[in-house]
Amino acid sequence: MRSLKDSDGITICIVPNRKIKEVMKPATKTPSETAIEMREMVMPNNTNTHGTVFGGAVMSWIDIAAAMVAARHCGRPVVTAHIDDIDFIAPIKMGYHVLIQASLNYVGKTSMIVGVKVTSENPFTGEVRTTTKAYLTFVALDDLGSPVVVPGLVPETEDEIRRFENAKKRVQMKKDVRSTLQRRK
Ligand SMILES: CC(C)(COP(=O)(O)OP(=O)(O)OC[C@H]1O[C@@H](n2cnc3c(N)ncnc32)[C@H](O)[C@@H]1OP(=O)(O)O)[C@@H](O)C(=O)NCCC(=O)NCCS
Repeated sequence: MRSLKDSDGITICIVPNRKIKEVMKPATKTPSETAIEMREMVMPNNTNTHGTVFGGAVMSWIDIAAAMVAARHCGRPVVTAHIDDIDFIAPIKMGYHVLIQASLNYVGKTSMIVGVKVTSENPFTGEVRTTTKAYLTFVALDDLGSPVVVPGLVPETEDEIRRFENAKKRVQMKKDVRSTLQRRK
């Protein structure tokens, strides 16, 4: 195996007879370094036949916010691999404001799990309500479109540590379910 540094000072390892396998990014990051908040307003083109927000519009905002977090963490292009546990808790009326908060909960080798919370705000009364929660898995890609190693994640606050531990348990549970199903085949 040989390695070289690119113009950003990133070490690239080249494995003989295989495509570029690992782009090793230095150090680690905390969830707060990459967390984002996005705001939208529910417009007529975002609504369903009940005059409340169309679920697909919310899913699109969630996917975009979460992708930005994942890309900020790894500094690479990312793709959505999985959307997990999306719960629509309450509707959002046309004209209401929407706050989308996303932060990184957990990282594997090449994957990143982002937690997203959506809150609606009645702009006339200021009343706020949690409306949607979701967890999404993204995979970082190298220049050839193959999964690539991501930096480590260091949760710092009590909330960040709780989210990290919960995500770790969910990843393990999924692995257990997958291997059980494979054994049954
Ligand atoms: C996501 C994708 C890159 C994974 O490629 P792959 O060759 O299967 O890669 P691997 O099997 O090595 O998995 C890579 C990582 O993704 C994770 N992963 C892959 N599929 C997953 C899924 N369905 N759910 C959760 N994690 C998943 C693996 O656990 C692994 O994580 P780790 O490296 O942290 O342990 C590939 O399936 C793909 O390109 N999918 C299409 C993505 C897309 O078009 N998204 C919509 C538009 S952005």
